[in-house]
Amino acid sequence: MKIDFMAKNIVIFGFMGTGKSNVGRILSEKFGMEFLEMDDEIERREGSSISDIFEKKGEAYFRRCERRLVKELSEKENLVISTGGGVVLDERNISDLGRNGILICLDASPKSILMRTKSENHRPLLLTNDPLKKIEELLAYRRPFYDLIPNHVRTDGLSTEEVSEKVLGILERCGWRRDSP
Ligand code: S3P
Repeated sequence: MKIDFMAKNIVIFGFMGTGKSNVGRILSEKFGMEFLEMDDEIERREGSSISDIFEKKGEAYFRRCERRLVKELSEKENLVISTGGGVVLDERNISDLGRNGILICLDASPKSILMRTKSENHRPLLLTNDPLKKIEELLAYRRPFYDLIPNHVRTDGLSTEEVSEKVLGILERCGWRRDSP
């Protein structure tokens, strides 16, 4: 697939379990762009898993790692970036990434999120006795932050391919062109 201009990044936001990584990977393949998963990059730099960072250094430290990485990535081009679900909590992260990127937020209901995350245990914020309640609380608190993102795709009941198609539609409306199937 050939696209019109390659200067901008594609930045995928959304709550945990909304499919950011899978969709980001598909987009990066379609456009021949580099894929960058922020959590993976932070783990690589810190030499530690996200769970360990939260446990040993605390969430505030993790958020500082995210902030530092966002500043760097905002200066780069041709990346598909999958952000961590809480990156929106610092609004500067949204505006910085928006300077050089098309911002897309994937949305899902608390129940879909629970279905997609319940068999995984690498997300410290969801390791509670009542993850559904926790998801609902976090989503309610974060909604105004996610709402700052200009483009949204609802993912409930959709496959990764279907979500990617919807994102491609948004990109086309933003001026990206699909030249080949
Ligand atoms: C978090 C989401 C996680 C990870 C960390 C905190 C959050 O990323 O950054 O566990 O606060 O929503 P994913 O959204 O990729 O799961």
